Amino acid sequence: MAGQVRLGVNIDHVATVRNARGGAHPDPVRLARLAADAGADGITAHLREDRRHIRDADIERIRAEIDRPLNLEMAATAEMLAIALKVRPNAACLVPEKRQERTTEGGLDVVGQRAQLAPVVERLGGAGVRVSLFVEPDAAALDAAADLGAAIVELHTGSWCEALAAGDAGRAALEFDRLASGAARAAQLGLEVHAGHGLDYASAETIAGLAEIAELNIGHFLIGEALAVGLPETIRTMKAAIARGRRKAAA
Ligand code: PXP
Repeated sequence: MAGQVRLGVNIDHVATVRNARGGAHPDPVRLARLAADAGADGITAHLREDRRHIRDADIERIRAEIDRPLNLEMAATAEMLAIALKVRPNAACLVPEKRQERTTEGGLDVVGQRAQLAPVVERLGGAGVRVSLFVEPDAAALDAAADLGAAIVELHTGSWCEALAAGDAGRAALEFDRLASGAARAAQLGLEVHAGHGLDYASAETIAGLAEIAELNIGHFLIGEALAVGLPETIRTMKAAIARGRRKAAA
């Protein structure tokens, strides 16, 4: 039987909600702790150049306070390399980053950006950080990732998930075939295979069936779903607080 598939929980969007008000609530580190207590195998966070969600202090606190491996998503820049060498996450997942994008839109251009990636992969690897490259499931990108000496590739599942969400069964089947062949090729190259982006319960269940997949990194769906699952209890707690206040005032 294939081994277990680890779940890395991406907490970026807890920080998105926090930052919408500029305060400290909700605290992404508190949610990381709850995720860990509930069985998350790792915590993933993307420190973007513009700090739109996760901030430097969040990363430092996750490292200090959370007893789970940290997978730091980062662009291959000098600034992020310096931070990663200081923080020493268990893994660093190199992603492409454009300021205007809403989320990471595609995989790394490993072939075209080889010169920029090579020293970053080397420095991180030399510091004992497992290097992961976020790539489209294409042969050229996978071969280049292995050639660069990455330990892991994370296959971008966004196109497949988009096709599923659009109800386009034909395109979804083609995209899933790409992921399946990519996972097989990556494993043959000796790379550990992760996957992520846009996954929900159903797509995670499907892709977990690929024997090569060792880890799934999931964020947006989990945080959105947690709001729905958690809202009824927060409403009950708030109603009780309000009622207590009234009772105290009347006593
Ligand atoms: N993996 C990588 C490399 C990502 O950039 C992201 C998005 O930050 C994810 C996984 C998680 O994607 P989602 O939030 O859609 O689950």
